[in-house]
Amino acid sequence: MAEIQWNKERLYKLVQSKLGDSLFIVVSNREPYVHTMSGGKIKCTRPVGGLTEALDPVMRASGGTWVAQGTGDADRKVVDERNRIAVPPEKPEYTLRRVWLTEDEVAGFYLGFANQALWPLCHVTFTPPDFREDWWHTYKKVNKIFADAIMDEIGGRKAVVLVQDYHFALLSGYLKEQNPDLTVGQFWHIPWPAYEVLRTCPWHEEILVGMLGNDLMGFHTRSFCNNFIESVERSLEARTDRESSAIVRQGNTTVVEPFPISVDFDSLSRQAGTKAVENEMENLTREFNLEGKYLGVGMDRMDYTKGIPERLMALDKFLEDNPEYRGKVVFIQAGMPSRTQIDTYQEIGQRIDDLMSGINEKYGTDSWQPVIPMMRQLSRETLNALRRLARFCVVSSLHDGMNLVAKEYVAARVDGDGILILSRFTGAAVEMQDALLINPYAISEFAGKIKEAIEMPEAERRRRMKNMREIVAGNNIYRWGGSMVSRLISIAGV
Ligand code: G6P
Repeated sequence: MAEIQWNKERLYKLVQSKLGDSLFIVVSNREPYVHTMSGGKIKCTRPVGGLTEALDPVMRASGGTWVAQGTGDADRKVVDERNRIAVPPEKPEYTLRRVWLTEDEVAGFYLGFANQALWPLCHVTFTPPDFREDWWHTYKKVNKIFADAIMDEIGGRKAVVLVQDYHFALLSGYLKEQNPDLTVGQFWHIPWPAYEVLRTCPWHEEILVGMLGNDLMGFHTRSFCNNFIESVERSLEARTDRESSAIVRQGNTTVVEPFPISVDFDSLSRQAGTKAVENEMENLTREFNLEGKYLGVGMDRMDYTKGIPERLMALDKFLEDNPEYRGKVVFIQAGMPSRTQIDTYQEIGQRIDDLMSGINEKYGTDSWQPVIPMMRQLSRETLNALRRLARFCVVSSLHDGMNLVAKEYVAARVDGDGILILSRFTGAAVEMQDALLINPYAISEFAGKIKEAIEMPEAERRRRMKNMREIVAGNNIYRWGGSMVSRLISIAGV
């Protein structure tokens, strides 16, 4: 259990009292506010997601700058001559600085090296990484473009920089080359692979050197930290100290620690308990004829790491082995298309479609379809209504740094009921031991867990959900942001 209760206000106060006169900078590929044209007018939206939520109080309290790629079709229209805009638009409290990339740069940096080399390299899904040399050069070039934008933003000031994710493995090294006095931390949102896997990347040494530009390197779990430390031990000349989780190379120290990311538990619980969500539950029940049925849900970004075919195969096996449940169980697969320009993503989309129609053809009747696809952007109300209606939620990732879908499901279950079926290969499984844990590749066992979820007595379901809710309430998103930022500020010695 968490020893201190973290919330938005506490995080805000921490930053205000501890940051001193240092400028606080966050860097990510995705921007926290996007401007788009809609019906001839400029509209500003905030992507749904934990990261902006967690870092928003930090940014507001510090009045700092968030540096990110500008991707909205109206983004250029609203910035000043230094590509900056004050946000949130309705009550500006910090600065968003946009970095523009050409189509070729996006192809090599984002679609190429980040998502077709590093993404499959870091996730054990047996999808081979593509180490194209031109992508690597573009990735380096874009990391430099970001470093220059950040240095320009800092001017000569003292600054604390927090870099997000695998898009920027080299950025911190570039920043420290330009100014060794900066305090720089990075959080890697995906798994870190074992050295045996990492070394297949022809540039793994350069990547490690870049990441050691950080004073603080954060991963979701202790096991990813250990993989990282071992990668350094076996690739570079550096002194590592497992006890203090620190790496010293050429006189510079990098502290490597786990910071398990989470969700805004209070706000999600509040939203899930509203009248609007209850109305939507009624609508969905009518629309999909769910009355008296057991509902299962899957909600994912459409990605080959999420184990969606495996869950459909398990559902097929469950219906095959348990004919008495035919007509009584409905599975809704909700999901957002993702990275659709990449072949592997198109292929997985096709495979999922084929599996879903196969199951519906095999078992469906005039009045019942076992699988209902909802592959589009859904409103918060619909997502919460689905979570609330579901007897069980399936998170079957083949490998996942954390997986927030699992925590969102738990946070939304204000009624205290519901079962989470969760892959052992997610970071979330470390905390969520009261889920029904599965190996998503073991299809018969997985099918057995679906049956167990449906048949579990209510008291047992409630006992498990209560435990999981307590854990997510304590280890919430503000605890993640608060722990990382306070660690970084203490390293900065401000
Ligand atoms: C993962 C990554 C994030 C990324 C998100 C969505 O969670 O860790 O950095 O933003 O996927 O992917 P996208 O490619 O659409 O940004």
